[in-house]
Amino acid sequence: MIILGIETSCDETAVALVSDKTTDTARSGQGNRPCVLAHRVFTQLEEHEAFGGVVPEVAARAHLQVLTPLLKQTLKDAKLTLADIDGVAVTCGPGLIGGVMVGVMMGKSIAAVHNKPFLAINHLAGHALVPRLSDNLSFPYLLLLVSGGHTQIVVVKSVLDFEVLGSTQDDAVGECFDKCAKMMGLPYPGGANVEKAALTGNEKRFQLPRPLKGRTKDGMACQFSFSGLKSAVRREIEKLGDDFSPQDTCDLSACLQSAVSDTLCDRLKNALKHCEEGSQAVTALVVSGGVAANVFLRDNIRALAHEFELPFVAPPLNLCTDNGVMIAWVGVEKMQCGSVDGLDFKPRPRWPLNELSVNGL
Ligand code: KG4
Ligand code: ZN
Repeated sequence: MIILGIETSCDETAVALVSDKTTDTARSGQGNRPCVLAHRVFTQLEEHEAFGGVVPEVAARAHLQVLTPLLKQTLKDAKLTLADIDGVAVTCGPGLIGGVMVGVMMGKSIAAVHNKPFLAINHLAGHALVPRLSDNLSFPYLLLLVSGGHTQIVVVKSVLDFEVLGSTQDDAVGECFDKCAKMMGLPYPGGANVEKAALTGNEKRFQLPRPLKGRTKDGMACQFSFSGLKSAVRREIEKLGDDFSPQDTCDLSACLQSAVSDTLCDRLKNALKHCEEGSQAVTALVVSGGVAANVFLRDNIRALAHEFELPFVAPPLNLCTDNGVMIAWVGVEKMQCGSVDGLDFKPRPRWPLNELSVNGL
C-alpha cells in the first residue's frame, strides 16, 4: 500500500509517499517495515522573515504556489504516478485555515479524479504517531509534543485513542522561544538561535520563573503556561535597557532554555508518575515537534526517561519538525484500521486530539 501525504497547516509545504512495506528488503535491511519512498519539504523562511513570524495570508499564498511543483517532484523522485497510490492523506487541521484549505483542496481533487480513498489527518496525530514509523514503537507510549503551535503531554494508546494529560494554558513553548528571541533581537525563527546563543551563556545569571512547577493538584499536574516566562524575559531586557549586550543575549538565552527545560521535565515527571500510579505501563518516553531539536532539552528529557527506566525516543529531526511523512504515515495506519473519510470532510482550524474518534482521525 502506498499513501500520498500532504501537509500545509503552517509554514512548511510538504509532500511524501510512504509505503506500508519495503519492496527491496535486501537492500534496505529493514525487513518488512514501512518505508518512505520519497518526501520533500519547502520551508517558507524568506516569506515570513521580514515579519518576524508566520503571516497566515502569506503562508496560504506560498502553499498555493509551491504545492503543485512539489507534488510533481516527489512523484518523480519515487518514480511513481498518481495512478500508483492507494490513498490520499491530507492535514485537515488544526492549523492556519487558509493553508490547510490549500492542501485539502489539492488532496480532495486528486482523490476525486483518480478515484482514491481520502484520509483526513489530524496534524497532531501525525506528530504523535510518526515515532511508530521511525522507531517501531508499540502502544501505549508517553509523548511530549513541543512545537511552535502546541505543547502537550499525551498517552498515545492506539491509532484512534489519545489521552491528553495536559496542554498549554497560553503560549506554546516554541512560540515562547520565538517571541523571546525576537525581543532579544535574534533572527527568525528564534528557537534554534536561542539554543545557539545559550551555548556561551551563563544559565545562573537571571532568576526566571518555572511556571506551574511544583503544582500537582486541581488537574494542574501536567499543564503548561509560558506567558509569564515570556514577560519575565521582557522585564530583564527592559531593566538592561540600552546597555543590552551580545553577552546579555547569550546569558538570557541560557536562562530561558534552562527555565523551559526545568518546567517541561517537572510536568513530564508528574505524567510519568500518573502512568505508574494508574498501572498504565508505557513502553517509552517520546519527544516530538520542532522544539525537540533542542539538544539541551533532549538531554534532560533522556535523563528523566532513564530515571523511570524507560527507553527515550526522539524521531530524526526531519520527522520532528513539520513534514509530509508523518501525514502519509497516519494515512497508512488509518487505512490499516479501515478508517476512510468522505470528500465532504470539513477542514478544522481547531481539532483537539481527544476528539479524533468522533470526527475521524
Ligand atoms: O514542529 P515545528 O516545525 O512547527 C510547528 O508545528 O510549530 O516547530 C517549530 C518550532 C519553532 O517555534 C522553533 O523556534 C522551534 O520549533 N525550534 C526550536 C529549535 N529548533 C526549532 N526551539 C528550541 N530549540 C531549537 N533548537
Ligand atoms: Zn507541527
